[in-house]
Amino acid sequence: MPLPARVTQDMRMVLRPSMLFSSAIYHFVMTVFEIVFVERAPSKLLSLTQVRYRSFASLWAANGEAMSATMPGHLDSLLRNCAGLVLDVGPGSGVLLSRFNPQEITAIYGVEPAEELHAALEQNAIKANLDGRFHALICGAEPNSLIPALHKSGLLGDGMADQGVFDEICCVRVLCGVPHLRETLQSLYTLLKPGGRMVVCEHVVNPWRNEGRVIARVLQALFTLMGWPFFLGGCELQRDTETYLREAGEWSEFKLVHVDPRDSIPFIVGELKKASKPTVSNEE
Ligand SMILES: C[S@@+](CC[C@H](N)C(=O)[O-])C[C@H]1O[C@@H](n2cnc3c(N)ncnc32)[C@H](O)[C@@H]1O
Repeated sequence: MPLPARVTQDMRMVLRPSMLFSSAIYHFVMTVFEIVFVERAPSKLLSLTQVRYRSFASLWAANGEAMSATMPGHLDSLLRNCAGLVLDVGPGSGVLLSRFNPQEITAIYGVEPAEELHAALEQNAIKANLDGRFHALICGAEPNSLIPALHKSGLLGDGMADQGVFDEICCVRVLCGVPHLRETLQSLYTLLKPGGRMVVCEHVVNPWRNEGRVIARVLQALFTLMGWPFFLGGCELQRDTETYLREAGEWSEFKLVHVDPRDSIPFIVGELKKASKPTVSNEE
């Protein structure tokens, strides 16, 4: 007899984060083990941030593909419609590159700080028929890292950081872990051409005040207290990313829907269009 939908929903709400969290702890322990006993370089442990990012990269390399078989909401069609010059923020190992339509793409710049993922990223770009048009940058999306990397790649000339250069910017499962989210989104907004589109698929704080659930919101707080951001490469479960996006700049379209709003890992999915002529602020 099939379980009632309510029961499966409850089980999923608890099991999904629990399994991911256990797997993240396992990869962290294995990373430390590898550094100490295989590489015999215990001094590397002093750079805890690097250890954490390396363990997250290993977690993602092992699970990223399985976690991408079915993406939330209508993300696949949003990616399929991407065209022109695209900035892919945190593409990971590139498991989603095959969802773009290569015929519509002029070039994709993939901003991926985890160097360990770059070999797989390049391979997946070739598999997705994007070879020669995919450029992986080893940097973060935050402006002090991204802007110099774009200059170095030759894409940004002098003074161009203030003008839009990308037709599309894709943020898929990445904004939960980007530092200084407000400033980073403002900078990404600036890099978008007027009329350009931002594609968003991000897990967010549970909207418990309206369509969400208190228990799911409590679980988010509990996993955070147990060290979720530490073991998952800085990923935050409780970010109100929608508000940061709304405040990043002037949008002519702002279409986001909640997917699984009653879950402990609810998503917002959709597209935002930058105003063709954003109002120039008089404030300095
Ligand atoms: C959960 S994975 C998602 C990968 C891919 N977007 C996907 O959905 O398949 C998050 C990725 O963001 C990257 N990342 C972490 N911090 C970042 C930052 N500051 N800027 C850009 N990417 C970052 C991680 O290295 C990781 O590859």
